[in-house]
Amino acid sequence: MSYRAILLSVLALVLVSVGCEALRTSRPIMPVREYEKMIVGRFDANYIGTDNCLRACHHHDDKVKRDFEASTMGAQMSSKSGLPIVDCESCHGPGSLAVEGLTIEKVEDDRKQGKQTECDYKTFIDLKELPSPAMSLICLKCHTANATFNLHQWNASEHAVSDVSCSDCHRIHAGPDLIVRPRETFDMCYKCHEKIRAEFALPSHHPVPEKEVTCTDCHNSHGGVAEGLLRKNDIKATCTQCHAEKEGPFVFEHADTMEDCMACHESHGTVNDNLLKQGEPFLCLQCHEGHFVRAMGGPSTIESKSAFYTRCTDCHSTIHGTDIPSATGKGRFTQ
Ligand code: HEC
Ligand code: HEC
Ligand code: HEC
Ligand code: HEC
Ligand code: HEC
Ligand code: HEC
Ligand code: HEC
Ligand code: HEC
Ligand code: HEC
Repeated sequence: MSYRAILLSVLALVLVSVGCEALRTSRPIMPVREYEKMIVGRFDANYIGTDNCLRACHHHDDKVKRDFEASTMGAQMSSKSGLPIVDCESCHGPGSLAVEGLTIEKVEDDRKQGKQTECDYKTFIDLKELPSPAMSLICLKCHTANATFNLHQWNASEHAVSDVSCSDCHRIHAGPDLIVRPRETFDMCYKCHEKIRAEFALPSHHPVPEKEVTCTDCHNSHGGVAEGLLRKNDIKATCTQCHAEKEGPFVFEHADTMEDCMACHESHGTVNDNLLKQGEPFLCLQCHEGHFVRAMGGPSTIESKSAFYTRCTDCHSTIHGTDIPSATGKGRFTQ
């Protein structure tokens, strides 16, 4: 069995046994912190608090601690906040074993030899090797869907099921600021979605490289109702956030094609004008037969002996829908 399978089955066993036990005796359910002990694999480790962890301060801690204390999570160190207390052990697991040998004498000895005292950090959870669902659970025990509403769809999201974990995007120790700003998402997303970068380099594209639109205007990294991690419930709603004039309803609708903007458009970039999937007339000819027209700007009638114009939208200019009928009183999107 793989490490992960073992981990999951142990977790399942514990949950089941704890669950049954609780039903029988109504004892409190095992505190969630025990979960970390389980990952460490040592139930003899104990939580000792940030101050004790950092008393014999090794070389990382200065900046890590300073940044962390300045962050929104670090601000939750006090029980007065009413929020779960977040300290180093909330993510790294119980620390008693790591500092066991760190006596004042040892620190002093090391200093004399010009050495940095190191804790026995191998006794912490190996966060870098942890399977990503388990890594995310460390965050989710506090950031439940109730606490962080935006995470409601996380478990079913393409990111979660593809083994992307919270800390792939949220770099806890990169600085005091844990918030992901829209301008940072370009580099963050491209790190894994190299192909998308190429799409935005095509001649017609949403101004993402120009930083007028960001990935997160359309996508929610944490998941959503629609496929493709869309920010809104469907594609149309995602697009009409900004292109409200295309929303309708119109007296003359372009059938139900308008429910899916992707029937005609690409979202990121294309070689055709206006982000069109195909150039005209081929775009239209996928669904319609073309027709001959007497002359551009001539009488608005179809006549078999005249020209076949390739830019359908020269005449059918209100292709997204209109309230104004065409010359013959029908909905032909000509005005
Ligand atoms: C919210 C979760 C979380 C908290 C709280 C947290 N860390 Fe971390 N820490 C991580 C993660 C995840 C990593 C793995 C590497 C990374 O993403 O930087 C890590 C890595 C580290 C590393 C190793 C860095 C490296 O380059 O290998 C040190 C040292 C560290 N943390 C110290 C601390 C200290 C000290 C505290 C308390 C002041 C703390 N951490 C609090 C999540 C956390
Ligand atoms: C012990 C509980 C706890 C754990 C574990 C935890 N967090 Fe937090 N986190 C909080 C609290 C409390 C806040 C501050 C209140 C808030 O903004 O929700 C916070 C704030 C944040 C913020 C900033 C929110 C803002 O608006 O400023 C981010 C991002 C974040 N956490 C990500 C993570 C990630 C990623 C992990 C896992 C590596 C993690 N947290 C683990 C409790 C926790
Ligand atoms: C693919 C990248 C990605 C992953 C994975 C991810 N997030 Fe986020 N997260 C973001 C982005 C981007 C934002 C900024 C809000 C937005 O516009 O979507 C954000 C916002 C947040 C916030 C609100 C504070 C802020 O930064 O605005 C919290 C809290 C948070 N994420 C926690 C988590 C937790 C917990 C997980 C794992 C269960 C997680 N995130 C997984 C990218 C990610
Ligand atoms: C750590 C790597 C990683 C990062 C960072 C990341 N993603 Fe992803 N993303 C994935 C993986 C893996 C998938 C699964 C499908 C795939 O391979 O494309 C995925 C899937 C997606 C999908 C859905 C694909 C589909 O087929 O439906 C979207 C949309 C997406 N990511 C957007 C984003 C955005 C926006 C960001 C930046 C905020 C981001 N991702 C950051 C790895 C990542
Ligand atoms: C204007 C809105 C918009 C913007 C901006 C946007 N996307 Fe998308 N993206 C979409 C739509 C719509 C889909 C298609 C979803 C579907 O068909 O289910 C999509 C699909 C995807 C997919 C999965 C399909 C594929 O092509 O592989 C990924 C990955 C993705 N986007 C990543 C990104 C990244 C990364 C950025 C920023 C660099 C970004 N998107 C910016 C709207 C957008
Ligand atoms: C965050 C706002 C925003 C969202 C959401 C958005 N767009 Fe756009 N869109 C823009 C901006 C800004 C432009 C550039 C306008 C300009 O250059 O004058 C643009 C341009 C376009 C263009 C014209 C491109 C060209 O080459 O001139 C099309 C077509 C388009 N968007 C379709 C869509 C579709 C389809 C969606 C949904 C997948 C969508 N937009 C979602 C902001 C948005
Ligand atoms: C039946 C095909 C079709 C569908 C479906 C469609 N479009 Fe278009 N769209 C076009 C064509 C063709 C053009 C370029 C010709 C023009 O300007 O009328 C265009 C141009 C645009 C433009 C840029 C020019 C302008 O009028 O502002 C935007 C923005 C746009 N579409 C948004 C959308 C949105 C949002 C949706 C979904 C609600 C959508 N489109 C659905 C065919 C379509
Ligand atoms: C994805 C398929 C699709 C595409 C692409 C498409 N249409 Fe349509 N169009 C329809 C459907 C379906 C109707 C409704 C037909 C009906 O009601 O008989 C329609 C209706 C029309 C009508 C009104 C005709 C009628 O019989 O009421 C015109 C005009 C029209 N489309 C022009 C265009 C043009 C011009 C383009 C290219 C820019 C285009 N369409 C692209 C599917 C499409
Ligand atoms: C020179 C102007 C012009 C051009 C270019 C044009 N059309 Fe039309 N189209 C019309 C007029 C006018 C009508 C009839 C309007 C009415 O019934 O009131 C029409 C009607 C239609 C109808 C309804 C057909 C029917 O039998 O009633 C469809 C579908 C259509 N056009 C599709 C297209 C497509 C696809 C193209 C591009 C290959 C195109 N049109 C190019 C002017 C044009």
